[in-house]
Amino acid sequence: MQPAPVTKYRPFPPVALPDRQWPNRTHTRAPIWCSVDLRDGNQALAQPMSVEEKLEFFELLVKVGFKEIEVGFPSASQIEFDFTRRLIDEGRIPEGVSIQVLCQCREDLITRTLEAVRGARSVIFHLYNSTSPAQRKYVFGLERPAIRKIATDAVALLKRDAPALAKAGTDIRLEYSPESFTSTELDFALEVCEAVTDVWQPTVEDKIILNLPATVEYATPNVHADQIEWMCRNLTRRDRTIVSLHTHNDRGTGVAATELALLAGADRVEGTLCGNGERTGNLDIVTVALNLYTHGIHPGLDLSDINAIRDVYERCTRLEVPPRQPYAGELVFTAFSGSHQDAIKKSLSQQKSGSPWDVLYIPVDPADVGRSYKAIIRINSQSGKGGVAYVLEHDFGMTLPKLMHKEIGRIVNDLADAKGTELTPAEIHAAFEADYLNRTSPVCLQHFKTAERDSTVHCDARVSVDGKVHALTGSGNGPIDAFVKALAGTPLPKFDVVSYSEHSLGRGAEARAVSYIQIKTERGRALFGAGIDTNIELASIKAIVSALNRALAKR
Ligand code: KIV
Ligand code: ZN
Repeated sequence: MQPAPVTKYRPFPPVALPDRQWPNRTHTRAPIWCSVDLRDGNQALAQPMSVEEKLEFFELLVKVGFKEIEVGFPSASQIEFDFTRRLIDEGRIPEGVSIQVLCQCREDLITRTLEAVRGARSVIFHLYNSTSPAQRKYVFGLERPAIRKIATDAVALLKRDAPALAKAGTDIRLEYSPESFTSTELDFALEVCEAVTDVWQPTVEDKIILNLPATVEYATPNVHADQIEWMCRNLTRRDRTIVSLHTHNDRGTGVAATELALLAGADRVEGTLCGNGERTGNLDIVTVALNLYTHGIHPGLDLSDINAIRDVYERCTRLEVPPRQPYAGELVFTAFSGSHQDAIKKSLSQQKSGSPWDVLYIPVDPADVGRSYKAIIRINSQSGKGGVAYVLEHDFGMTLPKLMHKEIGRIVNDLADAKGTELTPAEIHAAFEADYLNRTSPVCLQHFKTAERDSTVHCDARVSVDGKVHALTGSGNGPIDAFVKALAGTPLPKFDVVSYSEHSLGRGAEARAVSYIQIKTERGRALFGAGIDTNIELASIKAIVSALNRALAKR
């Protein structure tokens, strides 16, 4: 990097718009969406999609609910041409869906593109040419009037040929893009857009689409919004124009730029699912759409099975959705931090169905995008006690008493530390079983039976301690009390029962009881034990044995 002062780069010039309106507005409706996955996205792939992959992707886009889909650049290659023809010839374009085709402003390419779309019901013919000073100077070597003429000549050609297609049942709408709009002087971008509109003569019913691309993202999102508001205010036929956005993500703010430019008055958004596209990508439509949704605006797209969308995207593009990608990433509904897990657990348990979503750290209900709560919490050595209790409750139906959370949390964290990776729910459950449920030494319960006489419970029990069998009897105000008294006849250390809780596990004939008992030893140590049995009485006796064995193991 250049040491300060940085003279290699210059600040992006601001737009003179002191009475800008967009900062005071809020989003109130969803824009028209246009997917450019099959064109802009596809041309950015190391290995572009095959025709079969494009067909699969097209079907996904239709299923998600896109009504405008840029299917390719038919004059650029045979595969693009063939794909467009297959969509039309095989009747794959549903009623209400318009295909969009990109074309440079050249007569031979316009003719070829018209051949590609013949027979389709509804076509958006997307003409573009570059308008920025750098493009004019380095690429075209042309002055402003010649650049404007490239655009108007092309539109005139299309205007000449469109009626013949319309007669044959193909309705053509015009989209024009002054490519590199955001680095074009605003007065010149307006001049070209106005000239193109003059030639096309749109109506209120049949509007022109003026797509104003941030071909390369050079400025902050507020400058982009100013540029769009300036255009919206200065277009003379705004009522006959659909203002469209097409942001790329070079500065990582493509989503923000689109959101602010919608406030600035744009009507339509072009982008791709999960943001595939040249360099840092096109706008990620999934993010903008779900951002609107989480503010109470239905985007008009069905993103309720985000995993299925991600699967098709990854298979067809051979790209991976990054794990932290908003909404679609593998880890976005996962909390690793213990304090986050606690807060999620508390707010999630108080979330009432039908009430506004109010869960901490998770701005969207994972279920709305087909993700599950199960994935929310994973346990590693940084996780808190709440996370472990959450997994045991949600994955295995065990509601541990609050006081027990710390104890089991420590056990699982030690295990995660030793393992050095995160633990799966099955591993957490196995750790719980090993520490609480499967302990049979030094104390092993062999037999336990009770009878009630004169409001007193009498028990007969047989336990082995370090292999030596003891036949015991005891009486008390309940089975636990009777068993504790019976154990006094063994060499085991004395203890008190300090807390007890139980609940059923499963339903119907398969139901079992799980009981959690906390004991306090003579040395003042408090420990939990747990037991499971079809017989509720036996579950608590097993829990006492579990607590005792744990205490003896610690000693
Ligand atoms: O990024 C861009 O400018 C484009 C145009 C062709 C619209 O993709
Ligand atoms: Zn683009």
